[in-house]
Amino acid sequence: MCLLRRGCIEWPPAKETTLEMNRLQQLLVNRFWNRTHQHGGATTWGQEAGVRQAINRRITGNEHQWPVEWFASEIAKEAYPRVLSLGCGVGALERDLASKGLCGAALGVDLSEQALEIARQKARLAGYTHLDYQRADLDQLRLEPKSFDAVFVHQALHHVRDLEGCLVQVAKALTPRGVFYADEYVGPSRHEWKRELLQTAEAVFQQLPRAVRRRRRLQLPVDWRDPSEAVRSSDILPVLAEHFEIFERRDYGGNLLALIHPFLRLDELPIVERRSLIDDLLGREDELLAAGAQSFYTVLVARPFGSSSPPFSPAGDRVAT
Ligand SMILES: C[S@@+](CC[C@H](N)C(=O)[O-])C[C@H]1O[C@@H](n2cnc3c(N)ncnc32)[C@H](O)[C@@H]1O
Repeated sequence: MCLLRRGCIEWPPAKETTLEMNRLQQLLVNRFWNRTHQHGGATTWGQEAGVRQAINRRITGNEHQWPVEWFASEIAKEAYPRVLSLGCGVGALERDLASKGLCGAALGVDLSEQALEIARQKARLAGYTHLDYQRADLDQLRLEPKSFDAVFVHQALHHVRDLEGCLVQVAKALTPRGVFYADEYVGPSRHEWKRELLQTAEAVFQQLPRAVRRRRRLQLPVDWRDPSEAVRSSDILPVLAEHFEIFERRDYGGNLLALIHPFLRLDELPIVERRSLIDDLLGREDELLAAGAQSFYTVLVARPFGSSSPPFSPAGDRVAT
């Protein structure tokens, strides 16, 4: 039924138009990520040393322990025979899993062929013959039922529009004791961002010395060149909760730092001052989270509903539920 017809615009669009729009969107996303990966990947707030330590502390309780190390010691304990990595980019996660002896065979999938080629090269150079890469669109994911013992995703679910389709496929693809590990941005979706949401961060930013501010004002944290950026990020947790039991969740903030960090001029600051500025911002972010702000980033471990037995732990230990 056509609800709106004005000039040549029809709403809802015909099925062919929707398919064409999806294809165009996929092309744009692919082009954006091919370019980004070719140029060494995106810069993120977590790359700042002090921030990384704070993230580790918030997730694992220890600033020197990384989330995957925590996962290895608390949950996995031994290798998962068949691992899938969604939106793998250039493969850092799979190589990390391999270096920790956490995966038998691992398959990384991504839309960007450039990213996959780099991932293949890096795996080859590291001698990881058990890491394999294939192109796949997470918006049209099709997986063999019960074909993986663990599925990982690091900062790629927030690029998925068809979250329901993708997560149902993941739930079905896991073996009965399989686990799903996600490290994700779950904050406001792109269409929800407006300046009012930046108010607190903007106020903190304006208090910083002019010399360390790259811009007069913060900008909304969405890269509009990428149509998949935060496309349905605020739906991730509710959709996940429909299909999975989340048995570990470690929120790690980002509510101030992720917004402010891209607009700081830090390179010329003496190291002590740089660290003190970052620590000050982290302290304010801790206060915000303690006051009940909903964390923008989280790490979680889940298993599909209906799993008959405890999550897979090859050592046979029951993981905390
Ligand atoms: C922020 S990067 C994260 C990459 C990697 N997981 C990491 O943490 O380094 C997001 C990745 O998702 C991929 N991506 C975006 N939309 C996708 C889609 N619809 N299907 C598959 N991959 C997609 C991009 O190509 C990119 O490699």
